Amino acid sequence: MYYPDELIEEVRTRNDIVDVISDYVRLQKKGSSYFGLCPFHNEKSPSFSVSRQKQMYYCFGCGAGGNVFTFLMEYENFSFMEAVKFLADRAGIALPEAEYSKEAKQRADLKASILEINKIAARYYYVQLKSERGVGAHTYLTDRGLTEETITAFGLGYSTKYSDDLYQYLRGKGYSEDLIRQAGLINTDERQGVYDKFWNRVIFPIMDVNSRVIGFGGRVMGDGKPKYLNSPETAVFDKSRNLYGLNRARTSRKTYFLLCEGYMDVISLHQAGFTNAVASLGTALTSGHASLIKRYVQEVYLTYDSDDAGTRAALRAVPILKEAGISAKVIRMDPYKDPDEFIKNLGAQEFENRIQNARNGFMFSLEILEREFDMASPEGKTAFFREAANRLLSFEDELERNNYIEAVASAYKVSKESLEKLVAKTAVSTGLARPVTRPKKADGAVLQKEDGIVTSQKVLLTWMIENENLYSKISSYISPDDFTGELNRRVAKLLYEQHEKGELNPAKLLNHFTSEEEHREAASLFHTKIRQLKTKEEQDQALKDTILKVKAHSINERTLNLDPSDMAGLQHLMEEKRKLEELRQLHISID
Ligand code: CTP
Ligand code: MN
Repeated sequence: MYYPDELIEEVRTRNDIVDVISDYVRLQKKGSSYFGLCPFHNEKSPSFSVSRQKQMYYCFGCGAGGNVFTFLMEYENFSFMEAVKFLADRAGIALPEAEYSKEAKQRADLKASILEINKIAARYYYVQLKSERGVGAHTYLTDRGLTEETITAFGLGYSTKYSDDLYQYLRGKGYSEDLIRQAGLINTDERQGVYDKFWNRVIFPIMDVNSRVIGFGGRVMGDGKPKYLNSPETAVFDKSRNLYGLNRARTSRKTYFLLCEGYMDVISLHQAGFTNAVASLGTALTSGHASLIKRYVQEVYLTYDSDDAGTRAALRAVPILKEAGISAKVIRMDPYKDPDEFIKNLGAQEFENRIQNARNGFMFSLEILEREFDMASPEGKTAFFREAANRLLSFEDELERNNYIEAVASAYKVSKESLEKLVAKTAVSTGLARPVTRPKKADGAVLQKEDGIVTSQKVLLTWMIENENLYSKISSYISPDDFTGELNRRVAKLLYEQHEKGELNPAKLLNHFTSEEEHREAASLFHTKIRQLKTKEEQDQALKDTILKVKAHSINERTLNLDPSDMAGLQHLMEEKRKLEELRQLHISID
């Protein structure tokens, strides 16, 4: 942290969260809270709440939440420090310059400079497109069906045939070679010296959700290779966390996004009136993309290319989306290659029909699965159903699973009862109801699903944050060291400290998490979704189960890591184990 804790806390407390958010969202008082339309997802009735008393906000619709810093980080895409600076300014608090570590300042400056250079470059490319030299490129775009309005709306441009045109232009504006390189706009080799990354290409500026230019894509006008060139990752460009078109799609007020593969798909769809289209650019969909999407919508229609690669990409995307709590449907583009060609040939109305007839992601995956089996033979069909049953087990929610069992039974014309039995049998034989296919990361490593124990730890934290009374219950069995996740443990330590001092203050606690990732994750701890438990017995049971689970896991972990010669440690663990057994016999009451 670059500023003292007290200063950050002063900045926070001098900026009332209701006042700050009111500059962005129309809020109305209802009871002790304020409500408005959530700026992080599309909705028609207000589920976004701000509490003056707690100085926190929370959306019941999409789960966004946090303190006043979190809000600005999410809304303005600020870093934590940028949010602090902004609010210090707002409250007229002078921040000491020297407190900024040199490194942090350089990083902030670098980001700002790259954004500035990118903006100038985008404008330059745009002017070239509209100039004499850009006639060919302009014709290429209009031949592909783009209107002048669309070209302007997406800020399309042209990089000329001269190999260092942009470089010279930017140097003329006083930017250093080093900075231009860090923006990813030039390359160097021994023979040619410095030359522009993009030349003789149509340029697609890539913007973040706040319409700041973070990178570029450039397409050859014709059949040259590579078809597209993209900016490298830079201090402001992270492909796995940005979606092309999101800056426009976020305000489309539709309840779902159309997710496609390419620049031209997004642009064609927007031009045809589907302003909720976005694309992950030339990379497979990541969980980073999914959580970005989740801030705006809960549903995604995949409109990937209809070739094998597109089908595989769609199949991989479905579980990644589901994991983030987004339901996925799949739209087929056949007989055309992609949405761009589809629209060009069949028009917007036909595309709308495809949206209406989109297939549920799970049913789509079964259709593709069918291809691996000989559905004409009894053995093949049985094997297919076994795998289907296996996959049905990935629905942990019973109601949802039953709905799918019913859908599969009806689609494949088998009785619901026999499919149910098969699913139950499969559950027993595989030991537990776990998803069989896990999304893989690009490097082939299995993506770690947040496991039960981490969720249990989060639930405990959420309870303790919400309820003083539960804190004293839980803390008599669980100490901060029982939390195994690094971040969970830090939150627990801070929370216990606050409780001990008698000053529970979640909004203040969040100040300690200054990287965007951590801050967001810590903020999410304050609203871990807890299943609604009806009866008091159920609640007591859930409390006890969760405490037991977290404690048992912690003891196990420590046992595994114990140095065999550490006698005192061993004794201590034995003692803890004994207490755990005692605890199993106890009744813990939630109130
Ligand atoms: N892509 C890329 N580099 C390539 C090819 C593709 O980065 N060499 C990315 C681009 O973002 C592209 C997307 O992958 O938009 C989809 O590729 P493809 O389907 O080949 O291109 P289209 O979007 O259909 O492009 P076009 O219609 O211009 O041919
Ligand atoms: Mn295309």
